[in-house]
Amino acid sequence: MPDKGIVKVLVTEEEVKQNVARLGREVTNHYSDNDSDLLVLGLLKGSFVFLADLVREIKLPLVVDFMSLSSYGDGTVSSGDVKVVLDLDTSIENRDVLIVEDIVDTGRTFSKVLKMLSNRKPRSLKVCTFLNKPERRIVDVKIDFCGVDIPDEFAVGYGLDYAQRYRNLPYVGVLDQSLL
Ligand code: IMP
Ligand code: MG
Repeated sequence: MPDKGIVKVLVTEEEVKQNVARLGREVTNHYSDNDSDLLVLGLLKGSFVFLADLVREIKLPLVVDFMSLSSYGDGTVSSGDVKVVLDLDTSIENRDVLIVEDIVDTGRTFSKVLKMLSNRKPRSLKVCTFLNKPERRIVDVKIDFCGVDIPDEFAVGYGLDYAQRYRNLPYVGVLDQSLL
């Protein structure tokens, strides 16, 4: 096995690269007629690795900002209680905003963020996630740009953590259940 504690690889490093390049092309095509800079909004901490790769595949002028929300603490079960820990420091009024997330699981985080940000009157608001766990959905959210669908297993790597660890793995793997 590739790294200690990892029992299975869900998305290889090569598949990560292919999917990020594809998403970059989709985003570029979608916003190519825009006359103002796209605002790429990463949700910390999980999206930082994906966002860093994704923005380099978007061939358009853009700006980057971040928001931090917490819903999981150090555990693996969503509490459903999503808190804003750090808000973005720019106004999104009249901006085209692309929210970037590491994974959509229950959908609670995205639906909360979407509700909050749409009150701030952006011109458009779209969502891009690297991973998607459709089987786990509790709140329905429309994903505009989606990387890879994965089964209902606890994933780590490529930004995703367990107790803040494993974010630096260059692939997505499943953590040994006995460690959870
Ligand atoms: P949601 O609100 O349930 O959709 O959860 C979204 C957040 O939960 C993500 O940003 C992750 O931080 C975390 N999360 C959900 N599933 C996983 C997983 O399999 N591994 C690591 N973090 C996860
Ligand atoms: Mg997260």
